[in-house]
Amino acid sequence: MSSSFNPIGVFDSGVGGLSVLRAMRQLMPSENVIFFGDQGHVPYGPRPLEEVRAFSEGITRWLLDEGAKLIVVACNTASAAALTYLRQTFPDVKFVGMEPAVKPAAEWTRSRVVGVLATPATFQGALYASVVERFANGVEILQDTCPGLVQEIEKGNLEGEETRRILESALLPMLEKNVDTVVLGCTHYPFVIPLIERIVGESVRAIDPAPSVARQAERLLEANGTRNMSTSRGRVQFYTSGDADAVESLLPKLLGESGRVEKLVWEAETRLVRR
Ligand code: DGL
Repeated sequence: MSSSFNPIGVFDSGVGGLSVLRAMRQLMPSENVIFFGDQGHVPYGPRPLEEVRAFSEGITRWLLDEGAKLIVVACNTASAAALTYLRQTFPDVKFVGMEPAVKPAAEWTRSRVVGVLATPATFQGALYASVVERFANGVEILQDTCPGLVQEIEKGNLEGEETRRILESALLPMLEKNVDTVVLGCTHYPFVIPLIERIVGESVRAIDPAPSVARQAERLLEANGTRNMSTSRGRVQFYTSGDADAVESLLPKLLGESGRVEKLVWEAETRLVRR
């Protein structure tokens, strides 16, 4: 039985989940959190959906073993590959997942042309197809997978030449088609919003779904009676299957707070254990 002091489990293929965690820390600073970045397997985007599903299941089992009271799948790719499966496999567990924010974009756009930046796996998943079918509402949707962008952001390269080149090759053709709204359908991408804004200019809006995901997490905790109402700041424990020092040095820049990062190891690619 979870209590309000149990942590929220948050995971992503890498540092992208920190954009969601950042919004959660703003909204619910008293909550304890366990964050896992699967840097050992990043990027998820070009991988087959079944493989991402297996990783997501292994991570979920580990987070639940650590006492997670709620799981936030802070990754569009893992949500596309695994959210339905996770809900079926763990029927007693509450999950918050991500889907590209086509709905608010279609409501907001005036030019009726919306750009979506997401990974190949997210575009292939049934979740994306259903979001477009339900909400695009006659709005033209332009897509780009921004190859290499996740890797640049993993290196902390938010402004460099390669990052700019990747974003320009995605966004400039969209601008020519009169895009006025860009959906960030990958949790890594909010970290490059300043650069995106410099490329597209002020009249184009970039939609970061993190605040609404944080609100959804809060609603579920409140409905469950497990929202932590303490007045002290909650603790975040960080874990990675990759290079713990590298993640640790990126935390202040990406999350705005520092912390120790511990390494976990995959056994047979299905089970996470402490090193
Ligand atoms: N941050 C992830 C997402 O939201 C995955 C990026 C990747 O590993 O390819 O889709």
